[in-house]
Amino acid sequence: MIEYEGQYPVYEISASKIKSNAQKIYELCKSNGIEPAGVVKGFSAIPQVAELFIEAGFKTLGDSRLKEIVRLRSCNIKADLMLIRIPMPSEIPELVRYADSSLNSEIATIRLINEEARLQGKIHGIVLMADLGDLREGFFDSNEVIKAAKGIESLDSIRLLGIGTNLGCYGSIKPSEENLGELCRLAERVEEQIGRRLEVISGGASTSLPLLINGKMPPRINHLRIGEAIITAKDLPYLWNVEMPGIYRDPMVLKAQVIEIKQKPSFPVGEIFVDAFGNKPIYKNRGMRKRALLAVGHKDTGDVTKLKPRHEGVEIIGSSSDHLILDVEDYKGELNVGDVLEFDTFYSAMIFLCSSDCVRKVVV
Ligand SMILES: Cc1ncc(COP(=O)(O)O)c(C=O)c1O
Repeated sequence: MIEYEGQYPVYEISASKIKSNAQKIYELCKSNGIEPAGVVKGFSAIPQVAELFIEAGFKTLGDSRLKEIVRLRSCNIKADLMLIRIPMPSEIPELVRYADSSLNSEIATIRLINEEARLQGKIHGIVLMADLGDLREGFFDSNEVIKAAKGIESLDSIRLLGIGTNLGCYGSIKPSEENLGELCRLAERVEEQIGRRLEVISGGASTSLPLLINGKMPPRINHLRIGEAIITAKDLPYLWNVEMPGIYRDPMVLKAQVIEIKQKPSFPVGEIFVDAFGNKPIYKNRGMRKRALLAVGHKDTGDVTKLKPRHEGVEIIGSSSDHLILDVEDYKGELNVGDVLEFDTFYSAMIFLCSSDCVRKVVV
């Protein structure tokens, strides 16, 4: 294990594993007629890591935060940049200046982008979002997509690249042959109306990969926006029961330091009210147990249940903002204050860890 002088917690990112995963996913997509965009927001677009996506073949990087897109541009990143959250009207000048394209669902916003792009002498690419039932962004009525597409065609500084959808984020809707087939049929209706073929039919994110792996992706889907499957690769096999051959599941690891080890009762003593977050957790009385306190908490991880200890006999029993509490009674090794324990991270923990100023990110 690499030892770090100075500040823990450390979030260690393996460059070789990320690059290998990015290459495998890129090749999987390309061999199925899909040009994927690499989504870098999960690791806060750390430029050194974003660069690995490009080395792996990705031509476009996507991010939901314009601030991160601006940072990538200022690092002179050699890729097209796509804003994958519907733009705020207040960020349009920066959007046009720094991003090449964006996902959109509001005609008024698209008109503002058009005006700004004309002022800056640019053409901005637009992917119109259709909501197929997940109920986050996008036109819910397919006729509205067609109407918007026809309207955009007459704008002088906008290029309608195509249409897309997002699934599995709010409504937990699974991408399927049916809903992505519906997207393809909608694309064909748009094409009929505008009299040309769309460049992009964007069929979602990492959660659409199971369809691809199982050979069920509708053939006209030619674009996906992939982050998670490259950078954590934990959630897909675990939550979606999808094996991803050759993909490293552990390109990132959290390392946190032990600050206290004590034998304590497992059931709190006194009147139980609420915890630091106003919740009423259930405590199990297992008698006296050996516990370790680590200097990392919900503030860094969002939710410590999205961490998975790498050590046998180590169990997460709770956390406050700053303290992770482990039951280490069954840990076979010797554990002392100052030791460092390792954790795999699921997607949500990864985004918090990468966003936290208090967590040192190290690319190895
Ligand atoms: C619109 C959109 N597309 C694609 C992605 C990438 O998702 P994933 O990292 O699960 O592949 C996201 C995630 O933030 C998103 O919001």
